[in-house]
Amino acid sequence: MSAALLSDAERLASGSLSMVTCYDYSFAKALDGICDYYLVGDSVGMVVYGDFDTKSMDLPTLERHVRAVCRGAKQTHVVADMPIHSYDSSEDAAKAAALFKAAGAHSVKVEGASATTLEAIKAIRAVLPVMGHVGLTPQLLDAYKVQGRDEQSALRILEEALALQNAGCFAVVLECIPAALAQKITQVLRIPTIGIGAGPHCTGQVLVLYDLLGLYGDLQPKFVKRYADLGQAARDALQKYVQEVRERTFPDDGHSFK
Ligand code: KIV
Repeated sequence: MSAALLSDAERLASGSLSMVTCYDYSFAKALDGICDYYLVGDSVGMVVYGDFDTKSMDLPTLERHVRAVCRGAKQTHVVADMPIHSYDSSEDAAKAAALFKAAGAHSVKVEGASATTLEAIKAIRAVLPVMGHVGLTPQLLDAYKVQGRDEQSALRILEEALALQNAGCFAVVLECIPAALAQKITQVLRIPTIGIGAGPHCTGQVLVLYDLLGLYGDLQPKFVKRYADLGQAARDALQKYVQEVRERTFPDDGHSFK
């Protein structure tokens, strides 16, 4: 890890943790150093490739995106999402983590807390630190809906988060669960919780970059807040360019070689 990156303790001392997904070199460079973590999420399948869900992502594709983000991120910790089936065995998991490490990632994220995943975490930790992910885990579920609404499933999610902590995860993402459950898990765990659709009581928050910038509108979950409308800004810019090309005012002398 480069000297410019903060330790988790330093990050926590500066307030809540912030994480955003990032999938490419240009965004990684333009936004470097603003938030604590870039997550090269398997959501890249949906927002960049237009896939139906995240299950289409594979290791070579994710590795390519991780490499691109790491080239642009000089001050931001890069978490590489382990795609579905890349940690079905401890051996595969360690190989995938080694690939992400070679690409420049500082840690990886896995979904769920099955016995296989907990075993895989041990193998991965020999290579890179591991972030867990419970609640709505898109690799393991077919429907995107709030999890942990009843007592039994809430207890299961709490137990999974504890199991991930005991397996050595350095943080855990809580996705789409009631705020009170996220608060309880955050109180019980020693490690930071990073929420998405999990209310205000988590140690930190994560959002999909294209959601917060207004570039992806296929899904508009309640928990997403749009901080910009880059989709509209991009359309306006393109319209201006097309207009100038049609009027033959672009390129002008300032954008031509003598
Ligand atoms: O892939 C992703 O974007 C994620 C976040 C939603 C946490 O896993």
